[in-house]
Formats: sequence, structure tokens, C-alpha cells
Amino acid sequence: MKRDLQLAVGAAAVTLVPGIVLWLAGAPPVPTLLASLAIAVVAILALGRRWYRQVVARIDAQTVHLQSAIGIAATADIPVYWSGHAITPETLKLIQHLVDSLGLRSVLELGSGISTLLLANDFRRRGAGRILSFDDDQRWAEQTMAKLRHEKLDGFAEVRTAALIDVDAAGRRAKWYDLAALDKAARFDLVIVDGPPAWQGDSMARLPALYVLHQHLSSNGLLVLDDAARPGERAIAQQWQRDFPDLHFRMVQTGRGLFVAAVQKSALDFLPE
Ligand SMILES: C[S@@+](CC[C@H](N)C(=O)[O-])C[C@H]1O[C@@H](n2cnc3c(N)ncnc32)[C@H](O)[C@@H]1O
Repeated sequence: MKRDLQLAVGAAAVTLVPGIVLWLAGAPPVPTLLASLAIAVVAILALGRRWYRQVVARIDAQTVHLQSAIGIAATADIPVYWSGHAITPETLKLIQHLVDSLGLRSVLELGSGISTLLLANDFRRRGAGRILSFDDDQRWAEQTMAKLRHEKLDGFAEVRTAALIDVDAAGRRAKWYDLAALDKAARFDLVIVDGPPAWQGDSMARLPALYVLHQHLSSNGLLVLDDAARPGERAIAQQWQRDFPDLHFRMVQTGRGLFVAAVQKSALDFLPE
């Protein structure tokens, strides 16, 4: 709506302003009118083209969203419900593709939910793989764990509550997960950063993830940051790129944006451009 209004104001401005300028400059009325109309037609066509492209891009994104949701629901052995807080189906589909293609078997997740259930379900099908998920919300963690038990997926996933504590990373203090219980020697093929929730007040709440977990990445490990299209996550992505020259990065325009950090550059070949 806001964009439509901007386009309407833009179209009105390009229709009127050139004519007024020429008229003020003392140009004769007929050429002034013709020039003004020609400029207006060109400008309106350009704005219309832009608007058309935006609409097509939105329809494409919604198509991918629906295809992913339907594809996941059709192949999952468990009931699937996407809440507004959950990772988007298209982002999860890309993560499943990475897990599959790169043979990722050990997953650490920050922020549990449908992603935990569906990846555990994938691992059960394959008969290998495990996801360990930390959540700051004890009630939500217990609920996800109960669903895992109900679906007999608790052999492939575990959800633990981790309180948010003050963590210093990159010269900044943030409320981040207390991972003191995490074995120092533990290595993960994939780290999914889908928490802490930014709506709790700190738009850069996920900044510590790579500083704390870099040492826990396996030799072909990946770390993915969800919601990467948000301004806070974009700033986090820039800072990580500056501070970790040994890693390889890619921003993927899927769902709410997925920023990928990889130990091996070749892992990025499995991502869409
Ligand atoms: C972005 S969500 C994590 C989503 C999770 N990875 C998933 O795919 O469902 C971040 C946090 O929101 C909280 N939360 C509260 N209600 C939730 C809900 N209905 N679905 C998912 N997360 C919820 C949980 O504490 C969770 O860790």
C-alpha cells in the first residue's frame, strides 16, 4: 500500500513537474504540453515496469513458499504445523538439501521447533544423524521435547533449556545462551542459528553465535543464520565477514534470508546464487 502510494505520487510528480518547469522558463504552451506528456509517458512506463517486476518477484517467492510447505508436508512422516515464529518452509527445505547433499550428520541448533522435529525425522529415515537443540524458553523446549517423544524421534534429537546470560563477543555484551554444559570437544557439521528471538529487544542478539561456536564446527562444518534479511542480522553478517577471514560466506535470498558461513569453500556450491 505504501509502495503503491509512493508510485502514485511519483507518477503525479513526473507528469506535472516538467511542464511547470518549462512553463516557468517561458516555453510556448503547445511544445511545453507535448514535452510534459512525453516525459510523463516514459516515467509512468518505467514505474509500471518496476511495479510489475516487484509483483512478479512477490508471486515467485510465494510460489516457492507454498511448494516447499507442500513438499515437506507430503514427505514428512509427522504432522507439520508452521507457526509465525517458525523457520520458513523454503529455508528449511534448503537446510534439508544441505544436510542431504553434504552428508551432514551432527547438528547443533539454537531455537527449537518444527525445524528440530523435521530434521530428526530426516535422520530417522536415514538411520543416522542427530540434532541437539538449545532453547531459552523452558516451556517451549519441553513442548518440543514432548513432541519428539510422541513421534518417537527422541533417539535422533534432544532439546535442552539454556538460560540467556551476559556474553561478551566482538566488544559487545549480549544476552545469549548459557552453553556451559556443551562438551568442549563436541564438533558439529551444521549449526543452525534461529535464536535468541530478536523481538526480545536486541536486534543483534545473535552476534555471539559464530564467536562462541566457530571452535565447535567440524572440518566441513557450516553455520547458518536465519532471518538474515533483517537489518540486525545484516549487520551481524558484515561483522562476521570482517572477523572470520578463514571462513567462506554466502547470503541466500530465501524465506527471511539465510546467511551461510562455511569452513570449506566447496560447500557453497550447493547453495543457490
Ligand atoms: C525463531 S523461533 C525458533 C524456531 C524454530 N527453529 C522452528 O523452526 O520452529 C525462536 C524462539 O521463539 C520461541 N517460540 C515461542 N513460540 C514459538 C513457536 N510457536 N514456534 C517457534 N518458536 C517459538 C522459542 O523459544 C524459539 O527458540
